[in-house]
Amino acid sequence: MAKLTIEDMAVFCKKKGFVYPNSEIYGGFSGFWDYGHLGVELKNNIKNEWWRYHVQSREDIVGIDGSIITHPKVWEASGHVESFQDIMLACSKCREKIRADHFIEEKLQINVEGHKAEEINGIIKKNKLKCPKCSSDFEDTEQFNLMFKTNVGPKEDRSSVAYLRPETAQLIFADFKLVADNARLKLPFGIAQMGKAFRNEISPRDFLFRSREFEQMEIEYFAHPDKTEKCPFIDRVINTELNFYSAEMQQKNEKPVRMKIKDALKKKILGEWHAYWLATGQNWFTNLGAKSENFRVRKHLKEEKSHYALDTWDLEYNFPFGWKELQGIANRADFDLKQHMKFSGKDLSIFDEETKKKILPHVIAEPSLGVDRSFLVFMFDAYNFDNKRGNVVLRLHPKLAPIKAGVFPLVNKLEKEAKEVYDLIKTEFNCIYDKSGSVGRRYARADEIGIPYCATIDFDTLKDESVTLRDISTTKQIKLKIADLKETIRRLISNEIKFEEAGKLVK
Ligand code: GAP
Repeated sequence: MAKLTIEDMAVFCKKKGFVYPNSEIYGGFSGFWDYGHLGVELKNNIKNEWWRYHVQSREDIVGIDGSIITHPKVWEASGHVESFQDIMLACSKCREKIRADHFIEEKLQINVEGHKAEEINGIIKKNKLKCPKCSSDFEDTEQFNLMFKTNVGPKEDRSSVAYLRPETAQLIFADFKLVADNARLKLPFGIAQMGKAFRNEISPRDFLFRSREFEQMEIEYFAHPDKTEKCPFIDRVINTELNFYSAEMQQKNEKPVRMKIKDALKKKILGEWHAYWLATGQNWFTNLGAKSENFRVRKHLKEEKSHYALDTWDLEYNFPFGWKELQGIANRADFDLKQHMKFSGKDLSIFDEETKKKILPHVIAEPSLGVDRSFLVFMFDAYNFDNKRGNVVLRLHPKLAPIKAGVFPLVNKLEKEAKEVYDLIKTEFNCIYDKSGSVGRRYARADEIGIPYCATIDFDTLKDESVTLRDISTTKQIKLKIADLKETIRRLISNEIKFEEAGKLVK
């Protein structure tokens, strides 16, 4: 079967109720998407799993939930008002507007991220690049700030201008001192946040990949300014294998190399903190069923780095339209805390028990991940067409599956008993009850939306109070007692037991 494109995925997501184009009845609204009845469940499960793994199960990270509209000074201090810009190309005839770096990358296969407007103008002229819609010349490039503006309060003037946050990160810096003191955090520690971010992207594209409203899951991880080399948790990931694409490999046009963290550290390809967070980022995905061969880690070249970053690596995923950023991991040092101290006039330093001195910690790593891009990764790695079954099987990890179980009566006569089973497990899991069509057809419908377990109520149920449970990945079936069903599904989801061991295998 041909490789699934991003357009195929958008069609599938719409057809099955995962994601819809926003306000489709009005012709859609470019860069905005609505999550449907299955999409919202999958998205929430992704966020909950991320929060459990990165916040609740660790003692060194706590979370916050900051507001979407915040004091405009926050964005002046962070540099977003001045520098959060992309370069836009506008056609002199049809007025089509496109993002210059993406257009040049597509046409010339060169990376021009971080280039100045004059350099972009030069490249456009030298290569005689024209408008892709009407083949006319472009006007000179324009810088375009990506932040959405709004007004706070009843007056609409310059003094009431505020912005929708373009990243969640800055709220962490603005609240840093309160959180660090109140949560009694000791370095190294992290503060996490997830939630909506807004960017007025010039050309949103590739479905959920680049939209104007999206969600992020971010951590600012702080270390003592004199202890930025050694990561105390490096042993946890020392044997994790990653696909490394260093700056040198990129410059020499070499292929990425797969190696263990311990070997990459020996070769000084990267430092311990970046190694730790890149491996932790990939491990989170692969623990939830994503395929490790679809990931690589790439160092930003000098010209790509953001204004605040000392060093950045991206965790990239092999999307159908190429290797693209999934999670950025920047070393922001003390840039942000210093800026907020300067703009607010407040002291944000904290007391270090060990040296008995006040210090300003460094953000040794800022793992910043998109929820919507993660959603795509899990969908692409789960999706496959099973020729034997003749239908799509969405092999989502049971923890992520929007619906955990389906309950089917074999025949309508068994509806009462099936409904009782459904009512029993519905109190704990998101389930569906399905009585229409043959059982085979019901299994196929369940496969397509990634329901990991389906319980069929048959005539044996009347005799011995048992149900038949089917596993999506193997189609194997087991018999077990209704009384054990809820606990068995719970243990299967949390990976505490193997399917074959959860009941009597049906031959
Ligand atoms: N605080 C750092 C920061 O925001 P970023 O690389 O601009 O860094 C982090 O964004 C992540 O947010 C990206 O790796 C991506 O997953 C997600 N993201 C950024 N822009 C996006 C967009 N327009 N649509 C969907 N996701 C986006």
